[in-house]
Amino acid sequence: MSTESSPATPPTPPATASVALPTDKELVLKVIPMPADCNANGDIFGGWVMAQVDLAGSVVPARYVNGRMATVAVNQFIFKQPVRVGDILSFFASLTRIGNTSITVQVEVYAERFRAQGQYIKVTEASLTYVAIDDNGKPRAVVRGEG
Ligand SMILES: CC(C)(COP(=O)(O)OP(=O)(O)OC[C@H]1O[C@@H](n2cnc3c(N)ncnc32)[C@H](O)[C@@H]1OP(=O)(O)O)[C@@H](O)C(=O)NCCC(=O)NCCS
Repeated sequence: MSTESSPATPPTPPATASVALPTDKELVLKVIPMPADCNANGDIFGGWVMAQVDLAGSVVPARYVNGRMATVAVNQFIFKQPVRVGDILSFFASLTRIGNTSITVQVEVYAERFRAQGQYIKVTEASLTYVAIDDNGKPRAVVRGEG
């Protein structure tokens, strides 16, 4: 009988419970990250996720802006769970504020893990503000009542 201890086995991460998808938000984007989007840990690079959230967040404001707009602020951005290659990501968005020239949206991102389709894990939530801009890049009024 050997007295040598066996190599440590990495602990299995606890399974994250599946959650219900939001009913007060609109599905604005679905995308699957690829290996080229990974960071050095092998998870998906946070900057890639932020770019997708920026695109997804612009969908609802675009209906009010009817033209050029720019992201003026990322008010909050939380990476709640890692995103992995092969996850099916669903981006949900809702308006939280319409100002004179700006629109703020809340975005939530849910992952269906590889081989676990139909089970949703919330991986990211964020709040972003977009500004309607004119041809000179200056703020212009948002058309309320659209959308
Ligand atoms: C967007 C931009 C035109 C706004 O110009 P500005 O002179 O700062 O405009 P204002 O101060 O008049 O603010 C315009 C609106 O943005 C809002 N805003 C400005 N800074 C903000 C901030 N840090 N957080 C949230 N909202 C902000 C203002 O409250 C205002 O909204 P309202 O009219 O609905 O009340 C200018 O900041 C810009 O060009 N930024 C660069 C945008 C960019 O390159 N984004 C990344 C690529 S899309």
